[in-house]
Amino acid sequence: MAKLKVAVVGVGSLGQHHARIAAASERTELVAVVDASPERGREIAAKFNTSFVTDLGSAIESADAVQVAAPTGVHLEIGKQALERGKHLLIEKPLAGSLEQGRALLELFNKVKAEKPSLIGAVGHLERYNPAVIALRTSGLRPRFAEAIRVSPFPMRSLEVDVVMDVMIHDLDLLLSLFNRKVQSVEALGVPVLTPFPDIVNARIKFEGGSFATVTASRVARKKERVLRIFGEGEYAALDFAEQKLERLKLVKTPEGDPQVVPDATEIARDEPLRLELEAFYQACLGQKPDIVTFQEAFEAMEVADQVQRAIKTSLAEAGFKL
Ligand SMILES: NC(=O)c1ccc[n+]([C@@H]2O[C@H](COP(=O)([O-])OP(=O)(O)OC[C@H]3O[C@@H](n4cnc5c(N)ncnc54)[C@H](O)[C@@H]3O)[C@@H](O)[C@H]2O)c1
Repeated sequence: MAKLKVAVVGVGSLGQHHARIAAASERTELVAVVDASPERGREIAAKFNTSFVTDLGSAIESADAVQVAAPTGVHLEIGKQALERGKHLLIEKPLAGSLEQGRALLELFNKVKAEKPSLIGAVGHLERYNPAVIALRTSGLRPRFAEAIRVSPFPMRSLEVDVVMDVMIHDLDLLLSLFNRKVQSVEALGVPVLTPFPDIVNARIKFEGGSFATVTASRVARKKERVLRIFGEGEYAALDFAEQKLERLKLVKTPEGDPQVVPDATEIARDEPLRLELEAFYQACLGQKPDIVTFQEAFEAMEVADQVQRAIKTSLAEAGFKL
């Protein structure tokens, strides 16, 4: 089968790994990398034996599929150019810099897809491809309550997007897919610590059917922690994203009929979530199984993130913070 020609736009901290994986995959040929910094673009192109292309339009023209790992603020402008040329597109999370921009991308994607049904549009919610998450999903646990915590030391980048759209969005997408129920209400609080914007936020999301989740995200923690605890009927699961570990407990009956909580061991083979995500995208583009996070799903996560942001803004304004 002919290889999928791929161009990677934005080869910074994360995009270099997009380029590495596209260059190494048996399904693809990395035909171009694009970056606003010629120095960086040339460096990554040389490393992965491809061309650094300064003109975005020609890079897109030369490819069947475009991977965008440029800053969130330019996702819309780059994504638009790829979609207008009918190219498959994978955009890093969050889909776009604002809800309006996300909606514009989703609408354009739907319009182009109506004319070209084979078109694939995916968003880089890579935690969905974390082997521990895949194991959790296949365990069949039906969540009633979840607690997600994602905290890390202060980053020197991605500051143009707040901690909700940049960090919490991972868990919002994951929770929407795991609960698979409509969101009924969103409450949220947050406080500025090192920037004028909320750096620590906590949200409570209530789903239809009485289940709910609390989500904490911070970019001012001493060290990284990314965990998810989920409770279902007679079941508990604790997931560590970085360690790719899933600990499960189940309520069973002993031979005497007494209730007992026992561990349910889950063997997990470690793998690179980004590689799994990109291979799934390549497969979808090549007309194989479409195991991708769609623009629609990514937009729905943004809608919840937007509700979180608005709730925080209201509470900070009421408390007299100047934003
Ligand atoms: N899925 C994840 O877990 C994850 C993790 C980190 C970052 N991200 C996302 O990836 C994107 C990039 O983040 P990063 O941390 O790699 O940022 P970064 O700043 O390290 O890299 C961005 C690169 O894009 C280049 N660039 C800037 N404007 C451009 C333009 N208009 N056209 C082409 N290139 C341009 C920059 O020169 C830089 O090399 C963001 O959307 C971020 O949210 C996702």
